[in-house]
Amino acid sequence: MYSVKLNNNRDFPVLGVGTLFATKEGEAEQLVKDAIDIGYRHFDTAMVYRNEKEVGAGIKAKISEGVVKREDIFLTTKLWCTYHRREKVVEACKTSLSNLGLEYIDLYLIHSPSAFKEGDDFWPKDSDGKLMIEYVDYVETWKGMEECVKLGLTKSIGISNFNSQQIDRLLKAATIKPAANQIECHPYLNQAKLIAFCKEKGIIITAYSPLGSPNAIAKETTQAPLQDPKLQELAKKYNKTVAQIILRYLIQHGTVPIPKSSNKKRLQENFDIFDFEISKEDKNAIDALNKNIRICLFTGTEEDKNYPFGIEY
Ligand code: A2P
Repeated sequence: MYSVKLNNNRDFPVLGVGTLFATKEGEAEQLVKDAIDIGYRHFDTAMVYRNEKEVGAGIKAKISEGVVKREDIFLTTKLWCTYHRREKVVEACKTSLSNLGLEYIDLYLIHSPSAFKEGDDFWPKDSDGKLMIEYVDYVETWKGMEECVKLGLTKSIGISNFNSQQIDRLLKAATIKPAANQIECHPYLNQAKLIAFCKEKGIIITAYSPLGSPNAIAKETTQAPLQDPKLQELAKKYNKTVAQIILRYLIQHGTVPIPKSSNKKRLQENFDIFDFEISKEDKNAIDALNKNIRICLFTGTEEDKNYPFGIEY
């Protein structure tokens, strides 16, 4: 598996597997085992996905079988919004580690700059059904993240869904620089400006919803990138599928995509992207498909001072 270097010199495999919505019993564990057999070494989960236990079980099963060693695997998980107070971060990280059944995390991310009311409910609502935002400065949260590194709970730390202004502010206060920013990125939201900004700061972009989350988007619109005529034309030209064109494009675009699939055939399909290269001209044509369509809006957090999507990038 090809890797890029994080700013702390650790290897970050350029293609991973996402696990959001892999919540049916046994689904995430099977997905991870299938993916390891195919050759994937990079997995992405989060406390809020409620599948850390299964993701960890899949990894441990393949370690027990002797297929991989722990150090061959790159595992990302994320701090949920109800744990943003500095004092709560280490506790949350330890809970994730206990769920995973692993000794360390490779990359621990702040899932979102917004904080919610603390408690057992991941999506706390008031009596009117309104999401209960509770402001915490993400710089405070970051101090807790740095503590997780110092305690050896995670090798690297990073952020997710942060905009350029938030990153700038965080960098001024950080003693450990964020290694990655995980953001929604696909041909209809290609994030060119935020990618360039992060590159300059030495922060790698992980691309979530790289295929445009076709099942989620279908509810709102029929404009899924997988149905895009130009991408279909390129798929024919390169004798690849549209998904393969998108994933290859995202890697050439400088990001690390993490497509989710619970289907072994599609996991294999998404992995078979290292035997071709998209020409500069065709890459430019894909760049031109950008429509700034965002799927993952963090609905209910728009009024938060830390809402990240209110500025251009
Ligand atoms: P499935 O799990 O049944 O394969 P994203 O990562 O952008 O959120 O997209 C994930 C969605 O895309 C899942 O619903 C997944 O369904 C589907 N998917 C994953 N890989 C492919 C592919 N190669 N072709 C079509 N759909 C795919």
